[in-house]
Amino acid sequence: MADFGHTRVLGNWNPLIFAESYIRLKFPLVVRNLLGDYEAKWLTVRKPEAERERIRAVSEFHTDSKRDENFVIWSNVYPTEIKLKNGSLMTVTDGDVVLVDNLEVLHRRPSVPVEIDRWFARVAPLKMGTYTEYFKDAP
Ligand SMILES: [Fe+2]
Repeated sequence: MADFGHTRVLGNWNPLIFAESYIRLKFPLVVRNLLGDYEAKWLTVRKPEAERERIRAVSEFHTDSKRDENFVIWSNVYPTEIKLKNGSLMTVTDGDVVLVDNLEVLHRRPSVPVEIDRWFARVAPLKMGTYTEYFKDAP
């Protein structure tokens, strides 16, 4: 089995309501419940319309800007694909909330059929002090 280091599925979230305001409010709380206390500089929520606009963009495996050492992502369907630099793909299912070590793994938006309503949310980067705390118990 591949070792994904600090990158791991924290839990799974199925929102009661699919509305941008609801997800903006609830996603940070879901992350807080899964990780304990944390601070993040940014919250991104993309509703299906915004996700569809990205379809044309070529999605290659990449790491984000190095200033984001880590982030937590979620999508209701078609989870963001995560792989090790040696090529092993991580198993992630719909609704999984995933802690990503941006320095260890690559990620990309999957190919999503236009008729699918994909919601995406992300908090980043996690505050460094607590980052170490999270990773202390990582398997
Ligand atoms: Fe990215």
